[in-house]
Amino acid sequence: MRKSIFYYQEVSSTNDLAKDLAKKGSEEGTMVIAERQTKGRGRFGRTWFSPEGGIYLSLILRPQVNPKVIPLITLLAGVAVAEAIKALYALSVMLKWPNDVLINGKKVSGILTEMESGIEAINFVIVGIGINANIETRRWFKELDYPATSLMEELGKRIEIKKLINEVQAKIENFYFLFKQGNYSPILEAYRNLDATFEKIVEIKTTKEVIKGKAMGIDNYGSLKLKLLTGEKTKVCCGEVISNRLNEGKSQGFET
Ligand code: BTN
Repeated sequence: MRKSIFYYQEVSSTNDLAKDLAKKGSEEGTMVIAERQTKGRGRFGRTWFSPEGGIYLSLILRPQVNPKVIPLITLLAGVAVAEAIKALYALSVMLKWPNDVLINGKKVSGILTEMESGIEAINFVIVGIGINANIETRRWFKELDYPATSLMEELGKRIEIKKLINEVQAKIENFYFLFKQGNYSPILEAYRNLDATFEKIVEIKTTKEVIKGKAMGIDNYGSLKLKLLTGEKTKVCCGEVISNRLNEGKSQGFET
C-alpha cells in the first residue's frame, strides 16, 4: 500500500490536507505528515495541541466495504499504534475505547477517523493519528482535562520519530490488508487483548447522553457492550469514555 507521502513542517491539520487530497483523487495509502499543526483537531471538535516533537499523520483509505464495519478501521489504527509502541519500546500500552492509546493510564496517542461517502459507496476515510512522541506534556498540555504523557517522558529519552512512523505504517498495512479481506478477527482479538476498560465501570458520553455501566468489551463491529445498573445490556457505537473508575464494579451493584 506504500504510496505518496506529503511531508510538511507546519500545516493547519493533516486531516484537512488529506481530505483535500482525497477529494482531488489521491489514491489509497497516501499519507500526510507534519512536524507541527496550527489547527490540530481531536474528536468531538476538540483541539489537538500539536507542538513540535509530536507525530501528526493522516492516511487516505478507500475501503469498498459495508459502512457497518468502518468503526473497525478506527480500532485497527489504535491497535497498530499500540503494537508499534510496544514492539519498539517494550512499554505497557493499553487502549481506551474506542482508540485512545494509554501508557500507565495516561493518554499518549489519539485517533480521529473521518469519512466521506456518496449515496452508494464510501468515497474515502481519513485516519488521523497524533502521538505524543518527544513532547514535554507539562509544558504544552496545561489545559487538558485528562492525564497525558509522552514517549519521551515514559522512556526518559527522545525517540526516533521516523522509526516509529515506519512501524505504525507497517502495522496499519498488515491490519488493513486483513480488514479488506473481511478477516476481522485478528483486529478484534488484538483490541480485546489491550482493552483497558474491560469490566470497569465507565461513563460514556454520546452526542445525546451520558450512559453509565460496566464495560463488557466490544462486539464484532467495534461497538462497546455495556451492562447498565438496571442489569439491562446495551451497546454504544459512537462516543467516548469520560471516566472509568477501577474496581468499583461490586460497590455499584454491578455483580456479574
Ligand atoms: C483524539 O484523541 O481526540 C483524536 C486526536 C487526533 C489527532 C490527529 S493529529 C493528526 C490528525 N490531524 C488532526 O487535526 N487530528 C489528527
